[in-house]
Amino acid sequence: MTEYKIASIPGDGIGVDVTLEARKVLDRAASLNGFSLRWTEFDWSCERFAETGRMMPEDGVSQLSAFDGIFLGAVGFPGVPDHVSLWGLLIPLRRAFAQYVNLRPVRLLPGTTSVLAGRSADELEMVIVRENSEGEYSQLGGRHNTGQPGEFVLQESVFTRVGVERIIRYAFELAKTRSGRVCSATKSNGLIHSMPYWDEIFAEIAAEYPGVHSEQCHVDALAARMVQQPDRLDVVVASNLFGDILSDLAAAVTGGLGMAPSGNINPPGEHPSMFEAVHGSAPDIAGQGIANPVAQVLAGAMMLDHLGEPGAARAINSAVEKVLADGSVTTPDLGGNSTTTDLGTAIADALT
Ligand code: NAD
Ligand code: IPM
Ligand code: MN
Repeated sequence: MTEYKIASIPGDGIGVDVTLEARKVLDRAASLNGFSLRWTEFDWSCERFAETGRMMPEDGVSQLSAFDGIFLGAVGFPGVPDHVSLWGLLIPLRRAFAQYVNLRPVRLLPGTTSVLAGRSADELEMVIVRENSEGEYSQLGGRHNTGQPGEFVLQESVFTRVGVERIIRYAFELAKTRSGRVCSATKSNGLIHSMPYWDEIFAEIAAEYPGVHSEQCHVDALAARMVQQPDRLDVVVASNLFGDILSDLAAAVTGGLGMAPSGNINPPGEHPSMFEAVHGSAPDIAGQGIANPVAQVLAGAMMLDHLGEPGAARAINSAVEKVLADGSVTTPDLGGNSTTTDLGTAIADALT
């Protein structure tokens, strides 16, 4: 029987609860589909930071490098500044493993309470292809003239040709397997160096794909369109920061943050890819047992698909759809009063 070695990093807040439920669903899907998952758990988190002064050990990256996949809950919690916790765990892992694609598919699922509820899944299914290794997320910069009237900070962005080309090419290749449409989100009217550069490379690559319909959008106008005419979007490619913002927006219009999965993909497969929900540790509801586990479950399905188990991934997606369509077991964000465990169990039980 094939066995996959998976590193689980539940992390902080609701990350711990939703990871537990997702693992339950994944294990059952594995046994029904003739393979197994060997989990190794890592307690890397803000709690660990409080004890050791580090989010992960110094050799954390090498500890993970031999795994087939990484399953991450959420990182960050009040008490540790976000830039310390995230730059001590999540962001270094994305970079160390060259997970330069952050793939964030959304679709309207049955039984959701989206602002756009009533639309059908056919009308509302898109994927954000977010650049995940450079761009606006940069350590370059700093504070100057500290304490003086002229105090200021600089925050630099880095867009490399290799980095921009590979994410845009990934988006076009993906579009060929879907609707044949790519929209690139930039802000070339405001950011005069990085964004025109991205647009230029987008136009070059678009010319290599005459069969794919391409368009360039201003990210602000795209945000409005995502709410008002989401049916006209399919593959949306964006820089690290814009992709981050658009993916929460896309999640919101398709049922909320509790529903949106995400894959940090290393396309050549030289390193493990890492799967997590789009959402964070939700400190406002942490410890209450009411977080929606669907996003993490669907992230697990993305991981199984990536590992070469599309049958199990499809089975998980169907089980989620069945439970949501039934509507009797839903967490408060979906209008119900079930717990994280109730919903996780219902999904696991719905697997066939
Ligand atoms: P968040 O996504 O944690 O929460 C935003 C809102 O959505 C909250 O009201 C929360 O209750 C709700 N929500 C999120 N997930 C939910 C779920 N599964 N079920 C029900 N409701 C859900 O965003 P935030 O509050 O800005 O961030 C909290 C912490 O998480 C911060 O430290 C942030 O940096 C971190 N964060 C981590 C990741 C990650 O690890 N990938 C992603 C985003 C934010
Ligand atoms: C996400 C998160 C992270 C990001 C933060 C927590 C650094 O918002 O995965 O979407 O912006 O990449
Ligand atoms: Mn985000």
